[in-house]
Amino acid sequence: MVFTADDQFFLRNIWYHAMPSHELKPGKMLAKTLLDEPILFGRTRAGKPFAIKDICPHRAVPLSCGWFNGEDVQCCYHGWRFDPAGKCVEIPSLMDDQKMDLSRFDVRGYDVREVQGNVWIYIPDSDPKKAHPPNLDIPRVPGFSDDAKPAISYTMRFPCFIDHAVVGLMDPAHSPFVHRSWWWRGAQLNPEIKWFDPSPYGFTMRRHTMPATMGRGYWLIGGVPENEIIFYLPGVRTEETTTNKYRAVNLTTVTPLSENETDVTFEFYWDIPWGGVLKPFLHYLIPAFLGQDRDVVIKQQIGLKSEPILRLIKDSDVLARWYYQLKAEYRRSQAENREFVSPVKTQQLRWMA
Ligand code: FES
Ligand SMILES: [Fe+2]
Repeated sequence: MVFTADDQFFLRNIWYHAMPSHELKPGKMLAKTLLDEPILFGRTRAGKPFAIKDICPHRAVPLSCGWFNGEDVQCCYHGWRFDPAGKCVEIPSLMDDQKMDLSRFDVRGYDVREVQGNVWIYIPDSDPKKAHPPNLDIPRVPGFSDDAKPAISYTMRFPCFIDHAVVGLMDPAHSPFVHRSWWWRGAQLNPEIKWFDPSPYGFTMRRHTMPATMGRGYWLIGGVPENEIIFYLPGVRTEETTTNKYRAVNLTTVTPLSENETDVTFEFYWDIPWGGVLKPFLHYLIPAFLGQDRDVVIKQQIGLKSEPILRLIKDSDVLARWYYQLKAEYRRSQAENREFVSPVKTQQLRWMA
């Protein structure tokens, strides 16, 4: 299987992670470009998040340059007002007897949901004829309610196209080279054998008992841990680790801002009562760990400039291959308006890492 730069495209008609909830303060707005679309996010004073296109339909000034009173957004140029759904509700220059159908001036509103301490946005197809409301759900962190919040949350910007960030983060063979460090692992390679199954819009690394590298540390966390990893389009991964006593889940989301900028958000949810003591370590380790992934992607950009053909091998590159196949099938099934057929087949994969 080979890939070239021509295979680059953004998936649409799908939910993307927009930002951790705490970044969107009540009564405030926040401009963010996703998939090359300028979007104005906001949270009403009542606490409801929303997102509308960040371009005034009158003379194209970004609405984020204007004002938000906690209820509606006002453009800074001629003061047109828009509600959180994007409906034009006032044109101040109109005289009382100048009646006009304001609905002609609405801006595009996006579907936004808040789940488990994160704001998600549904990005429809840019062609209104192919756009439709969500027919799949937002991925959930297993074992936690929708009101749960991450204990820790960190976002890092990768200077690359989304595919390189997703493939890099799920790649099982890079760890001994990219994550070699005194606090994580050495250069020694060990055999890994794992079962994989298809799961909705992605795949699952079947639940398995983790290798006994933690030795006597197990008593601390209540037994030998089990681990399960689930990947979902367009770039969401949950890694659940459970023991008899506790559960800890890492949620990683990958969201493209543009062709060459991608946000990676790394969060932890846990029910460990003394989990707070882990936070100072994780505040140091997570940026260091993600920084290793980002640094190699920066190096990769040098080579990608000459638009080489990229080659994928068996086993250790099967996850990357599935990602590309899932993405292509999602786009095709949307275009043909038919059921999504997973390209993933249950199988065992083996690699050294
Ligand atoms: S440009 Fe926004 S109100 Fe005129
Ligand atoms: Fe990595």
